[in-house]
Amino acid sequence: MAFDENFATRVFKAVVRMPLRSNRGAAEFLLPIRDLDAIRTFLSGSGPIAMFDLPWMPIYLALIWFLHPSLGMLAVSGALVLCFMTWLTDRQSESASRDVAREAGQRMALAESGRRNAEILQAMGLTDRMASRWTDVNFRFLKHNAMLSDVGGGLGGVSKVIRYVLQSAVLGLGAYLVLKQELSAGSMIGASIIMSRALAPVELAIANWKSFVAARQSAARLNEMLAHFDEGKEPMSLAPPVHQLSVEGVYVAPPGSREPTVSNATFKLSAGQGLGIVGPSAAGKSTLARGIVGVWPLLRGDVRLDGAALDQWKHEVLGSHIGYLPQDIELFDGTIAENIARFDDTATSDQIVAAAQAAGVHDMILHLEKGYETRIGESGGSLSAGQRQRIGLARALFGNPFLVVLDEPNSNLDSDGDNALTEAIKSVRARNGIVIVIAHRPSAIASVDLLAFMANGQIQSIGPKEEVLRKIMKGQAGPQTGKEVVPTAQAAPPSGPLSQSGTGGAV
Ligand SMILES: Nc1ncnc2c1ncn2[C@@H]1O[C@H](COP(=O)(O)OP(=O)(O)OP(=O)(O)O)[C@@H](O)[C@H]1O
Ligand SMILES: [Mg+2]
Repeated sequence: MAFDENFATRVFKAVVRMPLRSNRGAAEFLLPIRDLDAIRTFLSGSGPIAMFDLPWMPIYLALIWFLHPSLGMLAVSGALVLCFMTWLTDRQSESASRDVAREAGQRMALAESGRRNAEILQAMGLTDRMASRWTDVNFRFLKHNAMLSDVGGGLGGVSKVIRYVLQSAVLGLGAYLVLKQELSAGSMIGASIIMSRALAPVELAIANWKSFVAARQSAARLNEMLAHFDEGKEPMSLAPPVHQLSVEGVYVAPPGSREPTVSNATFKLSAGQGLGIVGPSAAGKSTLARGIVGVWPLLRGDVRLDGAALDQWKHEVLGSHIGYLPQDIELFDGTIAENIARFDDTATSDQIVAAAQAAGVHDMILHLEKGYETRIGESGGSLSAGQRQRIGLARALFGNPFLVVLDEPNSNLDSDGDNALTEAIKSVRARNGIVIVIAHRPSAIASVDLLAFMANGQIQSIGPKEEVLRKIMKGQAGPQTGKEVVPTAQAAPPSGPLSQSGTGGAV
C-alpha cells in the first residue's frame, strides 16, 4: 500500500504525458501500469520473505561445520550448487520475462483498439481478421509465458532434487561418521535438521524468482520512464494573464519527431482580439493550436501569456486560463456537468450553467432526460456528434479562460450551433479574452477580427480579416485558396491593429 501511495499518482501522470512526448506504440503506454502491478505483487508475495531468510544460511552452514568439518564441506558445496542454480534461473528467465511483458502489452493494446473500433469491425466485417491478429499475438504471449514458466519450473524442480539428495547425503555421511565414532548420533540428526533449515530459503527464492525478475525489470522500466516523463518541480504562481498572447518564432513537431510540421509562427494577440486560422488540410493548423496550448513540445520559440512562457506556469493554473476544443472532441466518461466543469469538484452549478449558456447548449442539455446529470458514456458515446461538439465548447469556455483555442468547432454544427458559436466567440472577446478559431467552414470566423492563412506548415499571411480574405481571393496567399473560406456573415470590424513581430507572418 505504501509503495502504491508513493508511486501510483506519479506513474499515472507520466503515463498520460507519454503520448505527448513520444510516438511509441499503444502497448508501451499500458506497460507502466502493469509494471506497477508486477512490483506490488512481488512485494506482497512470499518472495521478499525468502530474501530475509537467505542471510541466515551462512550461520547454519557454520553450525554444521562446527559439528563436523566433513559435514560442513558437504553442506557448503551443496549450497554452492544451489546458488549456481539460482543464478542460472535468473539468467534464463531474464529475456523470457522481458518478452512476456512486451507481448502482454501488445495483447492488451490490440484488444483495446478492437473494442474502440467496434463499429468499424462490425460494419465492414473485419471481426474475423482482427480476431486472427489477436489470436497470433495471444499465442505468442502464451508461448513466451510457457517458456518463462518452464525455466522457473524446470530449474526449480532440479534444485528440489538436489536438495533432497543433499539431505540424504548429510544423513548418510553422518551415519558413516557415527560408525567411525567421530560423531554422536544426536549430532547426525542435528546436522540433518539444520541442513534443511539452511537450504529452505534457497528453494523458496528459486520458486519466486519469476516474479522477482519481473519486478526487477518493471522497476528498471518505471525508473527510466519517470526520469523522462516526471513533471519535475512546479514553477511558482503567477498572476492570471489579462493582456497578451505572443507566439514567438515557434516550431512545433509531432511527439517523437524532430521534423517540425509548423515552422516559424510568429504573431501577437491582445485582449479582446479574435484570430481565425484557415488553410488546406495538413497545413499545420491543428499542430499550431497544440503548440499554443502547450500540448505538443515546441522545438524552438516560445508561446507567452503576458510575457511568461507556458512552462513558467504551474500546470493546473495554466490550464484554468486556457480553453481548448480539440478537433476530435474527447469527452470523458462522467456526467455532462462534470465534463463541462472539467471534473472540478468545487465548481458551482452557476459556473456550469454560465459556460453552457455561453456555448448556447443550455437548452439542449435541459431537454435531455436527466439534464446536466446525464451520463455521457466513454468519449461521449451517448451523444450526437454535434452535441459533443457543443458540450466540448462549453468545457472550453468554463471558468472564463483568458485564451480560448477552438479547432474546427463547427465541423458538426447546424445553423443554430453556428450562431451559438459566433455568439460565444463574441462574448469571449467582449470580456477581454483572446480567441483563436481554426475553421474550414466560414461561419466560424464571422466574429473574429484577424485572419491567418496557413499552408505547408507556415503562416503565409496574417492581418485584418478583410485584407487577408482579399489576398486569398486574389490567390496571393497561396495556391490552394479558399472558396471554402468566404465568410457568409458580415464580419465585425477589426478592433485594433495587429501587432506583429519577426518574419514569420506576412508573405
Ligand atoms: N500525431 C501525429 N503524428 C505525426 N504527424 C502528425 C500527427 N498529427 C499531424 N501530423 C502531421 O502534421 C501535419 C499537419 O497536420 P495538422 O493536423 O496540423 O493539419 P491541419 O491543418 O489541422 O489539417 P486539417 O484541416 O485536416 O485538420 C500533417 O502533415 C500530418 O501528417
Ligand atoms: Mg486540423
